[in-house]
Amino acid sequence: MADAEKARAQAYAPYSKFKVGAALLTRGGRIVHGCNVENASFGLSICAERNAVWKAVSEGERDFVAVAVTAGRAGGASPCGACRQVLHEFAPGLVVYWRDGEGRIVERTIGDLLREPFVWPRRRGK
Ligand code: THU
Repeated sequence: MADAEKARAQAYAPYSKFKVGAALLTRGGRIVHGCNVENASFGLSICAERNAVWKAVSEGERDFVAVAVTAGRAGGASPCGACRQVLHEFAPGLVVYWRDGEGRIVERTIGDLLREPFVWPRRRGK
């Protein structure tokens, strides 16, 4: 969570003023930071969690064990649905931590958060 706070310090959120930080832990013990980055064309904004995944994958990391997300002590930042799908792609066993609106740390698995993810349909016998 301390790393998620560090990542949050870099957030670019001039429109929502809602700064989010994520810290993604790889199986090898590396921690990759991500923050939300907004845009004047609001729909182009990216969440902290997906930013962390894009960064990590672009640096050769695809095996993740945990992610911590924070929007500050009063924020409450349970990962959005799009981020759940993206996190699941690389880490179906991921442990997810976030701070709720009261500042308490919540722990869930990605499977708890996204019970029936979309997976690419593979043909039988292949
Ligand atoms: N946001 C995140 O970074 N992660 C989440 O899980 C939820 C929302 C960001 C996106 C946007 O910049 C701001 O929070 C308000 O929605």
